[in-house]
Amino acid sequence: MTSTIMSVSVALLFLELFTSVTMINISFCIANSNVACIDSERQALLKLKQDLNDPSNRLASWNIGDGDCCAWDGVVCNNFTGHVLQLNLGNPDPNHGTGSKLVGKINPSLVDLKHLIHLDLSGNDFQGIHIPKYLGSLQNLRYLNLSGAEFAGVIPHQLGNLSNLHYLDLSKNFYELQVESFLWLSGLSLLEHLDLSQVDLSKSSDYLLTINSLPSLRVLKLSYCELHHFHSLSSANFSSLKALDLSGNHFNNSLFQYSSWVFGLRNLVFFDLGNNEFQGKIPIGLGNLTFLRRLDLSSNEFNSAIPGWLSKLNDLEFLSLRGNSLQDLSQVLDIFSACDAYALESLVLRSCQCSGHLTNQLGQFKSLNRLRLGNNSLSGPLPSALGELTYLTDLDLSRNRLNGSIPLSLGQNLNLEYLDLSNNLLNGSIPLSLGKFSHLEYLDLSNNRMSGTLSENHFVNLTKLTSFSTSGNSLILQVNPNWVPPFQLDELLLRSCHLGPHFPSWLHSQKHLSDLDISNTRISDTIPRWFWNSISQYKFLNLSSNQIYGEIPNLDFDNRPSPLLPPSSGILDFSNNGFSGSIFHLICNGLKSISYLQLSKNYFSGDIPDCWMNWPGLGMLNLGNNNLTGSLPASIGTLSFLWSLNLRNNRLSGVIPASFQNCSGLVYLDMDENEFVGNIPTWMGERFSGLSILILRSNKFHGYLPIQLCRLTSLQILDVANNNLSGTIPRCISNFTAMATTDSSNLQNAISYVTMMDGTEAALDASVVTKGFMVEYDSILNLVRSIDISKNNFSGEIPMELTNLKGLQSLNLSHNFFTSKIPEKIGNMKSIESLDFSANQLSGEIPQSMSSLSFLNHLNLSNNHLTGKIPSSTQLQSFDSSCFAGNNL
Ligand SMILES: *[C@@H]1O[C@H](CO)[C@@H](O)[C@H](O)[C@H]1NC(C)=O
Ligand SMILES: *[C@@H]1O[C@H](CO)[C@@H](O)[C@H](O)[C@H]1NC(C)=O
Ligand SMILES: *[C@@H]1O[C@H](CO)[C@@H](O)[C@H](O)[C@H]1NC(C)=O
Ligand SMILES: *[C@@H]1O[C@H](CO)[C@@H](O)[C@H](O)[C@H]1NC(C)=O
Ligand SMILES: *[C@@H]1O[C@H](CO)[C@@H](O)[C@H](O)[C@H]1NC(C)=O
Ligand SMILES: *[C@@H]1O[C@H](CO)[C@@H](O)[C@H](O)[C@H]1NC(C)=O
Ligand SMILES: *[C@@H]1O[C@H](CO)[C@@H](O)[C@H](O)[C@H]1NC(C)=O
Ligand SMILES: *[C@@H]1O[C@H](CO)[C@@H](O)[C@H](O)[C@H]1NC(C)=O
Ligand SMILES: *[C@@H]1O[C@H](CO)[C@@H](O)[C@H](O)[C@H]1NC(C)=O
Repeated sequence: MTSTIMSVSVALLFLELFTSVTMINISFCIANSNVACIDSERQALLKLKQDLNDPSNRLASWNIGDGDCCAWDGVVCNNFTGHVLQLNLGNPDPNHGTGSKLVGKINPSLVDLKHLIHLDLSGNDFQGIHIPKYLGSLQNLRYLNLSGAEFAGVIPHQLGNLSNLHYLDLSKNFYELQVESFLWLSGLSLLEHLDLSQVDLSKSSDYLLTINSLPSLRVLKLSYCELHHFHSLSSANFSSLKALDLSGNHFNNSLFQYSSWVFGLRNLVFFDLGNNEFQGKIPIGLGNLTFLRRLDLSSNEFNSAIPGWLSKLNDLEFLSLRGNSLQDLSQVLDIFSACDAYALESLVLRSCQCSGHLTNQLGQFKSLNRLRLGNNSLSGPLPSALGELTYLTDLDLSRNRLNGSIPLSLGQNLNLEYLDLSNNLLNGSIPLSLGKFSHLEYLDLSNNRMSGTLSENHFVNLTKLTSFSTSGNSLILQVNPNWVPPFQLDELLLRSCHLGPHFPSWLHSQKHLSDLDISNTRISDTIPRWFWNSISQYKFLNLSSNQIYGEIPNLDFDNRPSPLLPPSSGILDFSNNGFSGSIFHLICNGLKSISYLQLSKNYFSGDIPDCWMNWPGLGMLNLGNNNLTGSLPASIGTLSFLWSLNLRNNRLSGVIPASFQNCSGLVYLDMDENEFVGNIPTWMGERFSGLSILILRSNKFHGYLPIQLCRLTSLQILDVANNNLSGTIPRCISNFTAMATTDSSNLQNAISYVTMMDGTEAALDASVVTKGFMVEYDSILNLVRSIDISKNNFSGEIPMELTNLKGLQSLNLSHNFFTSKIPEKIGNMKSIESLDFSANQLSGEIPQSMSSLSFLNHLNLSNNHLTGKIPSSTQLQSFDSSCFAGNNL
C-alpha cells in the first residue's frame, strides 16, 4: 500500500516538473470545436490505422464513414485550424498482457500530420522494427513517447531534427535499442525530460558531453543502460537537473572520484543509484545535495554505517539502502535520531546485514510511514516506541531474530496497512488490540513462537484485511461456527495452527480466497459440499496432514465459467489424510490449471483415470502410498511438463505404456512397490535424458538392464532392486557422470523443491534404501548418489568400470548371482559409505584397496565364496564378523 503512496508522491514530483513549462499552449483556441478535420490528415490517420492490428478495438471510432477525425479517440486537434496536434495512442493498460496493444508498423503517412506536437505510441508492440527516420521531419513535436513499444536497432540520428522537443522517452524497449553516437542529441536544445532507460549505451562514449549541452534538462533517466563510466566534466551544464536515475548500471566508486560534478547538482530532488557496483563508504558528497527528497542506494556494496552528514538532508523522505552490508542498526538509528525534525517518511534497509537492537529512539522518526527492516540480523524485543509512529502504514521486520512478545503499544498504530513480523522468535499471544487496525490489509505473523487463542474479537475491525498468515505458530483459532468475518481474504495461511476438529465453516463467507493453507491443523472431518463447489477458485490449496476423510464428489466444472486462474500455476495438496474412493472426479472433471498435485498418503482406490490430457501444465504428480490399481493410463504421455512422478506403494500393474516416453522432462520417477511387469523400456535411457532419480524397486520387471540407461548422465539414484531382472551390469555404467563426480555443485538442481506460498519449500519425499534402512531424504536429496540392484537374478562379474563412480555413496548388489572377484580398484570409490555384496557367488580375496574407503560405515560381504585374509585396516577390522560370515575368510 505504502508503495503506492510513495510512487504517488514521486509521480507528483514529476507532474510538477512536467507542468512547470506548459506543454501546449492552447488557450488561444477556446473558440468552437466545429472546425472539421483536415481531409489529408484524416487520410493519413486512416492509413496509420490500416497498418495496425487492434485487438481491443481502441481505434473503433477511426472509420471512413465518420468524417470528423478530430472527434476520434486519441486524436486532439487545434479547435481553430482543425490540424491534428496530438496523437495519444499509448497503451492505457501496458502491464496487462497483450490485450490493448496496437500491433504492427507505423505507416509513413504519419508525416502528413505536420502540425503534430504530441506523439505518444508507448506500450504498443511494433515488433522489433526500427524507429522510423521520418519521425525526424515532425518538426513541431514537443513530446515524443516511444516507451515500451518494442522498437529495436540504432536510434536514428534524424531525431536530432526535432529541435522543439521538450520530452523524449525511448525507455523500456527491452534492451534492443542502441545508440552509437549521441551527436544528434545536441540538436534538442530545449529538452527537459530525457528517458533512455534500458537503451544500450555501452557503445556511445560521447553521451555525457552531449547531454551536457542540454541546459534545460530537468529529468535524466539512464537506468539499465549498460554504463560503466562517467567522464569527467569541468562542470555540469544541466545544473537545473532535478531527477537523475542511474540505477542498474555498472558504476563503481570511480563515478564519484572522477565525476565530482555530480555533487554539484544542487537542485537534485530525486537520485537513484540503486543496483550498481559501488563499494565501501557512502560518498560524502551526497551530503551536499540538500534538496534531496528521495535517495535510493539499494543493491550496492556500501558497507559503512549510515554517515552522520546524511541527517543534514532535511527534506529526505525516502531512503533505501536495501541489499547493502550495513553493520549495526542501532548506530544507524542513532545518527538519524540526532536530528529530531527529521522528515524521513520511508526507510528501507531490507537485507542489509544489519545487526543490533531496535531501541526506543525509533519513536523519534515521527514522519515515518514506511519502515522496512526485513531480512537482517536484528535481535532483542520490539520497542514499545513503535506505537509512537502514528503515521506508520507499512512495517516490515520479518526475517530477523526479534524476540519477546508483540508490545501492546502497537495497538496505537491505527494507520497500519501492512504488517510483516514473520520469521522471528516472537512469543506470547496476539494482543486483542490487533482488532483495532481498521486499515490493515496484510498481516503476516508466520513462523514465530506465538501461542494462545485467536477469537472473533481479534478481527472485529479488520474490514480491509486481504491477507492473513499465522502459519507455524501454536495458535488456536477458536471462533463460533456461524461467525461471519468482517473481511474478504485473498490469502489465508494457517499451517500448524489448531483449527480442528471441524472443517472451518466460516470459510464459506470468503468469496475471493485463492491461497489457503490449512495443513496440519487437526481437522478430523469431511469436506462440506460448499467447499468442494468453490475449489476451482484456489490457486494454492493445502489441506495436507489432517484427518480429512470421505470421497471426492462429482465436481462438474464444465457447466460453470472456467476458473480465472493463470495457466499452470496452481498447487493442490491433499496428502496425508484419510481420503478414500476414486480419484476419477478430481482428475476427469477437475482442476485443469494445476501444476503440483499431491494426493499421496491417503486411501484412494480404483484406477488411475485416463484423463491426463486435461492437465497440460502438470509438473509434479504424487499418487504414492494409496491403494490404486490397474495400469498406468496412456494419457499420462500428454503431460509434457511433468518432471516428477511418484506412484510408490500402490497396487498398480501392467506394462509401462509406450506413450510415457513423451514425458521427456522427467527428473524424478518413483514406481516402487507396485506390480508392474515387462521389460525396463530401452527408451527410458533415450527419452528421459534429464532423469536424476529412477526407482523401479519391488515390482515384477524382468529382462536386462538396457544399455541405453547409460545415457542418463544426470542419474544420481538407480534403484531396481527386488525385481526379476537378469543379465550383467553393463560396462558403460561408468557413463553415469553424476555418480562419477564428488563435486555436488553441478548435480541436477532441478530436483526437490517447490516453493510454497509462505516461502517454505516443499521437498520431494524420495525414499531411498541405504545401509539396510529406508531413509526419507528431503532437502539433502540432491546430494545423494546410490545404486541398488539387489534381489534380482543378475550374474557375471562386477565390471571394473563400476569403480569409476567416485561419487557413489551406496552400492547394493546383494542377493544376485555375481561371480568372480571383487574389482581390484574398489578403493577408487572414495565416497562409498555403504557397500553390500552379500549373498552372491563372489570368490577370490578381498582387494587390499578396500581398506582405503574411509567413509565406509556399512559393509556386508557375507554369504559368498571369498577367501584369504580380511585386509588390515582399522576401518575394515571394526566391522562385525557377521559382515564377513558365510565365506572362507
Ligand atoms: C499561452 O497563451 C496565453 C494567452 O494567449 C499567453 O498569455 C501565454 O504567455 C502563453 N504561454 C506560453 C507558454 O506561450
Ligand atoms: C476543443 O474544444 C473542445 C470542446 O469545446 C474542448 O473540450 C477541448 O478541450 C478543446 N481542445 C483544445 C485543444 O483546445
Ligand atoms: C533534418 O534537417 C536537415 C537540415 O534542416 C534536413 O536537411 C534533413 O532533411 C532533415 N531530416 C529529416 C529526416 O527531416
Ligand atoms: C511515456 O509513456 C509511459 C507509458 O505510458 C509513461 O509511463 C511515461 O511516463 C511516459 N513518459 C513521459 C515522458 O511522459
Ligand atoms: C553549456 O550550455 C551553454 C548554453 O546552452 C552552451 O553554450 C555551452 O556550450 C554548454 N557547455 C557545454 C560544455 O556543453
Ligand atoms: C560540498 O559543499 C562544500 C561546501 O559548500 C564544498 O566545500 C565541497 O567541496 C562540496 N563537496 C563536493 C563533493 O562537491
Ligand atoms: C472498532 O471500530 C469502532 C468504530 O470505529 C470502535 O467504536 C470500536 O471501539 C472498535 N473496536 C475495537 C475492538 O477496536
Ligand atoms: C485396498 O483395497 C482392497 C480391495 O481393493 C481392500 O481390501 C483393502 O482394504 C484396501 N486397503 C486400504 C488400506 O484401504
Ligand atoms: C558412454 O560414453 C562414451 C563416451 O562419452 C560414449 O562413446 C558411449 O557411446 C556411451 N555409451 C552408451 C551406451 O551410451
